[in-house]
Amino acid sequence: MASPRRVESERLQTDKGYVPVYTTAIVEQPWDDYSADDHATWGTLYERQRKLLVGRACDEFLQAQDAMGMDARAIPRFDQLNEVLGAATGWTLVGVEGLLPELDFFEHLANRRFPVTWWIRRPDQIDYIAEPDLFHDLFGHVPLLMNPLFADYMEAYGRGGVKAHAIGPEALQNLTRLYWYTVEFGLIRQADGLRIYGAGIVSSAGESKYSLESDAPNRIGFDLERIMRTRYRIDTFQKTYFVIDSFRQLMDATAPDFTPVYARLMRQPALPAGEVRDGDRVLHRGSGEGWAQDGDV
Ligand code: PHE
Ligand code: FE
Repeated sequence: MASPRRVESERLQTDKGYVPVYTTAIVEQPWDDYSADDHATWGTLYERQRKLLVGRACDEFLQAQDAMGMDARAIPRFDQLNEVLGAATGWTLVGVEGLLPELDFFEHLANRRFPVTWWIRRPDQIDYIAEPDLFHDLFGHVPLLMNPLFADYMEAYGRGGVKAHAIGPEALQNLTRLYWYTVEFGLIRQADGLRIYGAGIVSSAGESKYSLESDAPNRIGFDLERIMRTRYRIDTFQKTYFVIDSFRQLMDATAPDFTPVYARLMRQPALPAGEVRDGDRVLHRGSGEGWAQDGDV
């Protein structure tokens, strides 16, 4: 596939005035260069996940996907999604090669820009790919940016990231765990039952079922400082999922300044991914079946 054209990087307006240009480039989505295989990979994954996610993903997620006009026929065009997304919440998708340095990523979010990997996995990677690709980023992350509360949460997270980056590596690690257990692997309690909102789950067939239906993992009520202390898995399904009652709860819990929280957490040890503690609001205590004994990050 031809490599995409680089777009001039821009200076971004933040709280602290204009920040330096990115070290990583924004690229234009090379839509005309996607192969028939690329579109077919999108279509296969889209159809499979949509079938799985009705009754499993939260209503906001499914409604937003429809509102954005995503479907199985072809890889969506970022430009077209941006028209809908811009009108709804003012977010913009920008194409990137892959994972960004932390500060670049935070600065994009703080400016309501969501970086989306422009390339899609190969057909032989349909079931699993370690790195985020277009399917994970676009199918998984983008729909909830249509939701005003979640859109604000992501911007606030970006601002919080710029701040944590300045405070130090421990603060950054605490904040990364929050992202992991909400944006990537969050569950939400909806009136008619437990649902998924995390992008890492909705973009995985196996974890879409496992996170809700397996006896193995813990499901524990959202608790900010508890989450910030909890290690996680990057190579297996999660041992613990944290459950919010609403996006409003998530917003309210994360609105206060985290500076004193980071200071407090510095004096407390991290918790293993699968541990259940006194004080946890346990919705389901995991059986632990099939858990790897080491490898928490
Ligand atoms: N309130 C957080 C802070 O002061 C910012 C934040 C908001 C971080 C939402 C994450 C999510 O750092
Ligand atoms: Fe992700």
